[in-house]
Amino acid sequence: MSASPETWAVLLAAGSGTRLAEATEGRRKQFLPLDGAPLYWRSARTLAALPALRGLVFVFPESELEQREAELREWMQRVPLGLPWQAVPGGKRRQDSVRHGLRALPRECGRVLVHDAARPFASPALILRVLNALEQGASGVVPGLAVTDTIKSVDCAEQVLTTLDRAALRAVQTPQGFDRSVLETAHEQALTHEWDVTDDASMVERLAEQTPHAAPGGVVVVPGEEINMKITTPADLERLRPQQPRQAVTGFGYDVHRYAGETDTGPVRSMVLGGVPIPQAPGVLAHSDGDVLLHALTDAILGCCGGGDIGDHFPDNAEENENRSSAVFVKEAQALARQRGTRIVSVDLTVIAQIPRLGPHKEHLRENVARLLELPMACVNIKATTEEHLGFTGEKRGIKAVALVSALRDADCMQ
Ligand code: CTP
Ligand code: MG
Repeated sequence: MSASPETWAVLLAAGSGTRLAEATEGRRKQFLPLDGAPLYWRSARTLAALPALRGLVFVFPESELEQREAELREWMQRVPLGLPWQAVPGGKRRQDSVRHGLRALPRECGRVLVHDAARPFASPALILRVLNALEQGASGVVPGLAVTDTIKSVDCAEQVLTTLDRAALRAVQTPQGFDRSVLETAHEQALTHEWDVTDDASMVERLAEQTPHAAPGGVVVVPGEEINMKITTPADLERLRPQQPRQAVTGFGYDVHRYAGETDTGPVRSMVLGGVPIPQAPGVLAHSDGDVLLHALTDAILGCCGGGDIGDHFPDNAEENENRSSAVFVKEAQALARQRGTRIVSVDLTVIAQIPRLGPHKEHLRENVARLLELPMACVNIKATTEEHLGFTGEKRGIKAVALVSALRDADCMQ
């Protein structure tokens, strides 16, 4: 072996994905789309970004080799990985695919990472841990997680034979790192003695049992990652769903209501704010229930989703809106916002009035608005202020409210 051996990776993408076949209508999981590219491409990019990596061997199903190689070439043109690569046909079992991949490694390669394309989320930090442990002299390195379930060993009739000591167990992942010549020897032995294994490390372990000096340093475990799960069952497909990008949006609302005077003839409503009746307050002139706060809020919600204004949806000359609870306006505006991919995250409301005094009611208003919008209390703020006897609120002729609503909107609803 040369003084500083090259590190290459074998990326396994030759499986048939039988456990997922029904859910994917027969499509092999390693080729399912993830962020617009085939799944295996994610691992290729993560591996290639490591400065230590000198090249990649892709192992594809024999029956699709040409097609997949052409696809890969296109991806390499679009997003050059800056590394030499090769594509080779896989075999029947995983270990056969690894063996085929090993054969394609160049002479200069002294260390190899073997990675399942079905684990797209391995992080660079995890791969570095594997490489560092290899550097320190292990023959094999596997990322592993402590086991949280109690594990029992059973016979073919499901009779429990023994309960294993959980503290001494690790669930192992890939990439697994190896001294190349040790792994090659292990694969030769596996072929000769017909070992049937589910990972490469177990071959090296067997080799070490048989011939201890053939795998100096043995196999060590470094911390794995929960996120580095293997896409295996239909439930795992959820992880591949595209995350809808979201954009922060805001909406502003403003409303005024006049207090009823002695000479007024229009409909006078008892004051309601945020859906809460305010006793001993001036009557309000209004077609609906006159809830100035919920009207401002409705407008702000509509503002978040390009929904026009309250008058567009609930005209004040329409009979059905007469003395109507303004909570309905808020709920309908919120439903429209949802329809347009907009989710309210917080609201900040201010009531401006000389009378009545609102301090004692603020908390009650807040609770009611939070309940109405199905938001946590922490996401609803209510303020009250006067205008220092200035203007129409200062002269106690009316009340106004302003509302600011913050929301997240699905990016595809913004085009
Ligand atoms: N793999 C491979 N060649 C095989 C079998 C598996 O390259 N003959 C690869 C898979 O593509 C996958 C990894 O090994 O990236 C781990 O295997 P697994 O999760 O078992 O995938 P499949 O064998 O494809 O799935 P299943 O066992 O459900 O058929
Ligand atoms: Mg399999």
